[in-house]
Amino acid sequence: MTRTGPQNLLVTGGCGFIGSNFVRYWLEQHPESRVVVYDKLTYAGRKENLHNLWGSSYLSLVVGDIGDMDLVRRTCQENGIDLIVNFAAETHVDQSILGPLVFTDTNVRGTHVLLEVARELGIRLHHISTDEVYGHIRDGHQSVETDELAPRSPYAASKAAADQLVQAYAITYGLPVTITRGANNVGPYQYPEKAVPLFSTNAILGEPLPVYGDGKQMRDYAHVYDHCTGIETVLLRGEIGQVYNVGTGREMTNLEMVDLVLETLGKDHSLVKHVADRPGHDRRYSMNVEKLRALGWEPKYDPRQAVAEAAKWYEGNRWWWEPIRSGEFREYYNRQYAERLAGAAQQ
Ligand code: NAD
Ligand code: TYD
Repeated sequence: MTRTGPQNLLVTGGCGFIGSNFVRYWLEQHPESRVVVYDKLTYAGRKENLHNLWGSSYLSLVVGDIGDMDLVRRTCQENGIDLIVNFAAETHVDQSILGPLVFTDTNVRGTHVLLEVARELGIRLHHISTDEVYGHIRDGHQSVETDELAPRSPYAASKAAADQLVQAYAITYGLPVTITRGANNVGPYQYPEKAVPLFSTNAILGEPLPVYGDGKQMRDYAHVYDHCTGIETVLLRGEIGQVYNVGTGREMTNLEMVDLVLETLGKDHSLVKHVADRPGHDRRYSMNVEKLRALGWEPKYDPRQAVAEAAKWYEGNRWWWEPIRSGEFREYYNRQYAERLAGAAQQ
C-alpha cells in the first residue's frame, strides 16, 4: 500500500550527480514537497547542477559537512525534516586509491552522524549504497540483497561500513531506515572523473580514452533517471528496514561501453588506449533487481540506451563540463593518467 509521501526532505549531497538528478525528479513529481539540499560543495558538488531550480521557494541550500552534528541537527529542526536521503559521499574509486582517509571521514563517520541525528529527532533515513559493497561477482551469479558484503577498494569498504551502520541502527534502535544499492549510474551532470563522462568528453576533445587493463571488466551502466525512480519507489512503497538493489540487471564490458560512446559521438576507435590497470580492479558487478521490481518498478532505459543518452548529453552541454575540465580537474587528470598514457604510447 502506498504511504503518504514525506513532505520535508533533507537531501545530503544534493549538488552531486545523482543527488541533483534526484532533487530535480522529486520536485517535478512531488511539487508539494520542500527540499533542503545539504552539501559540502566538494569538487564534485556543483550548484550549477541545479542551475534552473534555485530561487524556487520549495528548494534551499545549506552548505555544510554531514560530519557536523550541530549543523545537521539545527538544519533538521529548523526545517521540520521528516526524511533524510543520504547521497553525500566521496564517490570515486581512483580518488580513494590516491587519498583514502577522507572516504572514511565522510562516508563512514558522516553517515554515522546522520544516523545519530535521525535517532535523536525520530526521522526516517534512506541511505544510498552501491553494488560495489558486494565486491566483484563471479560469472553466472547476480548479487541479491542478502549476499555477504565483500568490498575490495577503500571506497567500497567505506560504503559497506556505512551500509552496515544503517542496518545496525534499524536493528538496535528500531530506526526507520531503507537502503538502495545502485549500479554504475550514467547521465547528465556526472563529474568527468567517472568512466562514461570522462570517455565522452575526451572523445569530443579528441583526447585518448584510457581503458584500464584489457577493458573486459563488466558493469551494469544504468541511467540515473531509473535510479531516481527506484529510490522514489522505495521511499513510497518499500518496506522499512529493507535493502533494495537498483540497476538494469544487465552488464556490458567496458570495451563495449567505449565503442558505444565513440559510435554515438562519431569518433574513431584509434582514440582508445589500453593503460595500466587500477589496483584491485573489480572484474564484474551484477545485481538481481527482482525485489525492487516486485514493488512495481521497471527501468525505462537499457544499458546501451543509457550510455548513448549520456554521451549525447555531454555533446550538447559543453557549458557544464568545459569549465570543470579546464580547472582543478586538470591536476587530478595528470596525476591519474599522465604516466599511464605515456606508458601506453611506448607499448
Ligand atoms: P558525486 O561525487 O557526484 O556527489 C557527491 C556529493 O556529496 C557532492 O555534491 C559533494 O559535494 C557531497 N559531499 C561530499 N562530501 C560531503 C560531506 N562530508 N558533507 C556533505 N556533502 C558532501 O556522487 P554521486 O555519483 O552523485 O553519488 C551519490 C551517492 O550515490 C553516493 O553515496 C555514492 O556512493 C552512491 N552511488 C553512486 C553510484 C554512481 O555510479 N555514481 C552508483 C551507486 C551508488
Ligand atoms: P568508474 O566510472 O570509475 O566506476 P566504478 O569503478 O565505480 O565501476 O569506472 C567504470 C569502469 O571503467 C571500471 O571498470 C573502471 C573503468 N575505467 C577505465 O577503464 N578507465 C578510466 O579512466 C576510468 C575512470 C574507469
